[in-house]
Amino acid sequence: MAGRVLVVGSYNQDHVWTCDQLPAPGATRLGTYASGPGGKGFNQAVAASRAGARTGLLTALGEDAAAGTARGLAGAEGIELIAEVHPALPSGTAGIFVDAAGRNVITVAPGANGALSPAYVRAARPAFAGADVVLAQLEVAPEAVLEALELARDTGATTVLNPAPANAPTSPALLALADILTPNETEFAALLARHAHQTVDADTLHTLADDALHALCQALQAATWVITLGGHGAFVSHAPGNHRGDRDPAYRVPAHPAQPVDTTGAGDAFSGALAAALAANPDAPFRDGVSFASRYAARSTERHGAALAMPRRDELAG
Ligand code: RIB
Ligand code: NA
Repeated sequence: MAGRVLVVGSYNQDHVWTCDQLPAPGATRLGTYASGPGGKGFNQAVAASRAGARTGLLTALGEDAAAGTARGLAGAEGIELIAEVHPALPSGTAGIFVDAAGRNVITVAPGANGALSPAYVRAARPAFAGADVVLAQLEVAPEAVLEALELARDTGATTVLNPAPANAPTSPALLALADILTPNETEFAALLARHAHQTVDADTLHTLADDALHALCQALQAATWVITLGGHGAFVSHAPGNHRGDRDPAYRVPAHPAQPVDTTGAGDAFSGALAAALAANPDAPFRDGVSFASRYAARSTERHGAALAMPRRDELAG
């Protein structure tokens, strides 16, 4: 795969506690601890790069040990790092709890990510001009994401927005700048509540008929939607008249079988791999990219960690 992907998003130092079960409120449990690289932006950049794309990451860092780790790893992965430095702020951090089934709960403190400035994004225009796909999430300052997607539209890149985390602010203008949106069930339910005044139960979203899900997607924003449904696969919904090479306007792609030990970053694996596939083969049926991303994401859950759990292309067989 070739093709160029520019990711605009966060770097976080992940602090991960693994335990037999997630502690209930008020409970204490014994477990183990590890720290590693993460952040939705960094994870997606590593995924895009290991999936075969020439990849850049536009992010914001402090001037601390985590920033040094980010720079070293980006270099080792062949990712072009474009980082706004905020000396007075810490780099982003995430506290993550993982249970024996590989499920997680996460709290993120954005730190420098929250201060990524639109002016810095604007100054990186040459990086946008060279990109086939620009991929963003919502762990950096919202004004910076808006600027990035506007710039991407301007330079003719395909825009992909992974609207995560679920409680990050969003606006209709932001959604309208995305050619492709990749929420999980929780994030999709949050968008529906906020922008379409519709209440759905995220846990039962996968039980809705294709027609019903398609209508919800297109009522929210005319675009291509890819809702990741965990073990229930992914649901694709295209805007009328733009099926991106697919025959069907809406369909499901089954989940790839996996033995998950840690699902942290699985959504990031999916978005990064999808971006890489779209950058490499813009004229292939969209479904092919989704199938590749599903296989890629499934593999990522079979290893502990976030960024460093991303598979390389030659590890995808089977
Ligand atoms: O999507 C997983 C990521 O969410 C973790 O790496 C953590 O840093 C948070 O950003
Ligand atoms: Na993982």
